[in-house]
Amino acid sequence: MRAKFAYQCQGCGALAPKWSGQCSDCGAWNTLVEIAYSGWPGAAENRPGDVSAEPPRACMLEAISPAEEAGIPSGVGELDRVLGGGIVAGAVVLIGGDPGIGKSTLLLQMLAAATGEGKCSGLYVSGEESAQQVALRSRRLGIDGARIKLLTETRLESILGVAAQEAPRVMIIDSIQTVFTEALASAPGSVGQVRESAAQLIRFAKSSGASVFLVGHVTKEGMIAGPRVLEHMVDTVLYFEGDDSSRFRILRSTKNRYGPVHELGIFAMTEGGLRPVTNPSAIFLQRHAQSAAGSVVMVCRQGTRPLLIEVQALVDQSFLANPRRVAVGLDPNRLAMLLAVLHRHGGIVTHDQDVFVNVVGGIRVTETGADLAVTLAVLSSLRGRPLPADMVVFGEVGLSGELRPVPNGNERLREAAKHGFRRALVPKANAPRREMAGLEITAPARLEAALASI
Ligand code: TYD
Ligand code: MG
Repeated sequence: MRAKFAYQCQGCGALAPKWSGQCSDCGAWNTLVEIAYSGWPGAAENRPGDVSAEPPRACMLEAISPAEEAGIPSGVGELDRVLGGGIVAGAVVLIGGDPGIGKSTLLLQMLAAATGEGKCSGLYVSGEESAQQVALRSRRLGIDGARIKLLTETRLESILGVAAQEAPRVMIIDSIQTVFTEALASAPGSVGQVRESAAQLIRFAKSSGASVFLVGHVTKEGMIAGPRVLEHMVDTVLYFEGDDSSRFRILRSTKNRYGPVHELGIFAMTEGGLRPVTNPSAIFLQRHAQSAAGSVVMVCRQGTRPLLIEVQALVDQSFLANPRRVAVGLDPNRLAMLLAVLHRHGGIVTHDQDVFVNVVGGIRVTETGADLAVTLAVLSSLRGRPLPADMVVFGEVGLSGELRPVPNGNERLREAAKHGFRRALVPKANAPRREMAGLEITAPARLEAALASI
C-alpha cells in the first residue's frame, strides 16, 4: 500500500515516508515538514498536469492586456492606503500581529464597510471565536451585519465548500493557524498544515476572483507562524503593531504586489472599534511647551507621506567596561556608526558614555533620513543644551562626515511648516530653490558645519 502522507525537507526538498529529526539527504536538522503527497516518484497520479489536455502555449507579453487592478475601496481609508488603493480581486492578504492588537476588529470593520451599500458580498470564517462572540463584537462596533455571512468552521474542505456556494467577493479567514486540511495528519497550526491550507485558499482566490484575507499569529520570534512560508505565497503582507500602553495602532505593509511597501496606516483603538488617525504627525509629537535637552524633531517619510517624529537621546557617564548603546525604534548598528562619525568628524567623544536613543510613539524608523536628527539628539543630551523648540531636522550622515540629501525634501519641509515649525536644518542638497514662507532654512554640506550652526 502506498503511504498517504509524506515528509519533505525544507532545505533540499528530499522526500521521506516517515518523520525524523534529521534529513537523510542533506543532513539538516528539524527541516522535515508534512506535505500532501499522492504518490511516490513514478506513480501515475504524481505526474503534473493532465496529459490529455491541450498543451500550454506561451504568448507575447505585449498581446496581454492587464486587468484593471485598482481594486474596490475597502471603506477604511487607512487600510486602503496600506493596500495600495483598495481590495484587489483575487488578491490574498496576510495580516499578522500580536494577540489582542485588533486584527479581528479591523477586518470585521473593513468587511462591514466594504459590503455596505451592496458593493460586494462578504464571508467571515471564524475558527477562533464562536458565532456569539463575533456577533457581540459586531454589535459593539455598530455593524448591522445584513450583508455579512458568518461561518464558524476550521475544516478547510468545509470552508471551501461553503465558499464555493456563497461565492463571496471578500473572504476572511480568522485565523489561518486554526484551519486544518484532511489531506494531512499533523495538528492545526503546524507548518505543514498552515502551508497546505493557505495554498488551497490561494488557489480558491485565484480561480474565483475572491479577495482573501488571512489572519496570522506572530510567534515568539516575531514571525508569522509557519516560519515565514506564508509570506512568500501571498500577494500582500501586513503587520498590525502597537504598544500595549498606547491606544494607537500601526498597520504596515512589508510586501505588496499591488502597491508601495512600508506604507503606514495609523489607527486609534476606541470604545467603538478602530478609528483612522487623519493627522498622524500630531500624535507622534506630543511635545512639552519647553524643549528639553536630547530631544529633536525629525521629518521622516513612511511610505508615501511625511511624518513628524520626535527622537530622544540620553547620554550618561558610563561605569561599564563596554558602555551601553541602546536604540529603540532604530537600527543599533546605525547608531554605532553615527557615534563613530560624530567622534571622527565632530571631535565629540562618547566612548566613556552610555547612549540610549528612542523614537517616540513606538514607531520604527528604517530610513537614513533620521541620521542627522539622531546625531544632534546625542550631542544635545551630552552637552545638556536643548535645541530650539521650533526646529526640525532631517538628512543622512555619510561616513566621511558629509550630509547627504534624502528624497522628497520639499514635501518634508512643507509638512514641518504646516505644523508650526519655523526653522529647519537640512543637507545642502535638500535646500529648496525658492524661499519657503515662514521657514528659516539652514543647509550645511557637512556635519561639522551643522554642529557649528546650533
Ligand atoms: P481583537 O480584534 O479581538 O484582536 P485580535 O484579533 O488581534 O486578537 O481586539 C481585541 C482588543 O481590542 C481587546 O483588548 C479589546 C479591544 N477593543 C476595543 O478597545 N474596542 C472595541 O470596539 C473592540 C471591538 C475591541
Ligand atoms: Mg482575533
